[in-house]
Amino acid sequence: MADIHAVEPTRRDFLYVATGAFAAVGAGAAVWPLIDQMNPDASVLALASIELDIGSVPVGQEITVKWRGKPIFVRHRTEKEIADAEAVDITTLTDPQTDEARLKPGPDGKVDKQWLILVGICTHLGCVPLAYKGEYDGYFCPCHGSVYDTSGRIRKGPAPLNLEVPPYEFVSATKIKIG
Ligand code: FES
Repeated sequence: MADIHAVEPTRRDFLYVATGAFAAVGAGAAVWPLIDQMNPDASVLALASIELDIGSVPVGQEITVKWRGKPIFVRHRTEKEIADAEAVDITTLTDPQTDEARLKPGPDGKVDKQWLILVGICTHLGCVPLAYKGEYDGYFCPCHGSVYDTSGRIRKGPAPLNLEVPPYEFVSATKIKIG
């Protein structure tokens, strides 16, 4: 007589299945360098630029996109974040820069204070800082405790420089071109 329990997967079967799944992930990871080699070479990538529709990012939120392999923070700043960034006495900064110097003009020719565009790489040793964290509600790098403000300027910790502003321009009021 057939044992009806035989068709039900046992815990041991499940463990085998789970192990198989991990093995498949491992194989995928190993294949990546080969596929990666088929991507455009560095000289082509160096020229690459991206256009980004930022109209759907609400005030008070940030998105991260990838450009030339780097994370780019696109932050739609609130009035308070803008005011905080502008109120800073730049003579007190490690890397003195006004907020305005880190922004670009919009299509109307006026500096667009709402949008802060940054390369999301800590200038200390290259970790990716966390947005809306740290004493200034800007960015906090958990690796060694660097704190950046709402303009991406270094305010505390070991990082020597402000977060880099990538080359970008406004194509329209809601579209930017990075690179
Ligand atoms: S890498 Fe960010 S604080 Fe060291």
